[in-house]
Amino acid sequence: MYKIKSAFGTPILVKDWPDSKEFNARLTEIILEKETSTPAAKRSNIGSWDSQKDFLEWPHKEIATLKQRIVAVTREMTMKVTRGKYSPASQDMFAHAWANVSRADSYRKIHNHESCTWSGVYYVRSRLSQEKSKSSGIIEFLDPRMLCITTELPNSNFGGRVRVMPRGGRMVLFPNWLLHYVNPVEDNSLRICVAFNVKLETNTVKRRSDSMLSLGDVKFSEDRVVDSD
Ligand SMILES: [Fe+2]
Repeated sequence: MYKIKSAFGTPILVKDWPDSKEFNARLTEIILEKETSTPAAKRSNIGSWDSQKDFLEWPHKEIATLKQRIVAVTREMTMKVTRGKYSPASQDMFAHAWANVSRADSYRKIHNHESCTWSGVYYVRSRLSQEKSKSSGIIEFLDPRMLCITTELPNSNFGGRVRVMPRGGRMVLFPNWLLHYVNPVEDNSLRICVAFNVKLETNTVKRRSDSMLSLGDVKFSEDRVVDSD
């Protein structure tokens, strides 16, 4: 009898929010209007427009709905990876977001996100034709087990890529450290999305063993350590 455990899995959540047509149409208007009045921020985006990371502070009621969706997927993902041990409250979450508008020939270089807990994207509008290429405008995640690429084993999933098709109303959530990129948009479609980062910060998470003590009160010697043979 053999038992083979699957280890070091990496969660990627994909959630298609229903009834998003009007919501997305309104967000499209809001973001395109902002694009005309604000210079593009420079990040990993090539040929596309990124807003500042102040999207969640924009004064529109649709932003509140997007925040609710971010909270919901963050709770779901966190519950999943902690095997139900931690269900974060919205008060535990800190987030920022930025909008992106992509047209023909734009893409996003390989990158991961800044130090936080989860990163994600919500697709507001995406009607890729994929006539020229099946990968047009698709987000791809790389296997984080970097040494896998040296494995010579055809048909295994070592060193593979995971592709997620952008679709209006779809939200994707993944660990902030997971490398990803967006293939060039090879048609004249308009792709709009909102990217975000979430940091969980709470005293309710038990981060250390009961046997550990705080070293905060320890008086330490100023004597310098001298190397000995
Ligand atoms: Fe990203």
